[in-house]
Amino acid sequence: KLIYILNGPNLNLLGQRQPEIYGRGTLADVETDCTTLGKDLGLEIRLLQSNHEGQIVDWIHEARDAAAGIIINPAAFTHTSVALLDALNTFDGPVLEVHISNVHKRESFRQHSYVSLRADGVIAGCGLQGYALALRRMAVLTEAKEA
Ligand code: DQA
Repeated sequence: KLIYILNGPNLNLLGQRQPEIYGRGTLADVETDCTTLGKDLGLEIRLLQSNHEGQIVDWIHEARDAAAGIIINPAAFTHTSVALLDALNTFDGPVLEVHISNVHKRESFRQHSYVSLRADGVIAGCGLQGYALALRRMAVLTEAKEA
């Protein structure tokens, strides 16, 4: 089974960007970790990142045919994008939302998520490990409907 791991704006700069908040690890590290873990779980992963909202909408549409589940860190679009919510609402499989930082102990504007209106689960504040935790959960959700 193929799982899309979608990442929003500025996450290409992980490792360099506000490391006191987001750590020193890079998105390439996330890809390596999730590929390795995915092999154990029987899941293939496709990790994608874009700074452009429409590109992420297009990838969600692509996932409708291609992917069994979506793990998404929408980054700043979490808090702004009805378009991402609408796109995710066209996807039938499980959706898990990941935030590297604990958005609930940051600015109040980060505490509302449009994507959470669709997400089956949310992981926040677990650093880059959050992606691997989401992948473990995804293995359960794609195995049985009643997980
Ligand atoms: C983030 C949290 C968002 O509020 C922020 O805009 C990001 C990253 C996180 O992973 O903690 O870019 O999604």
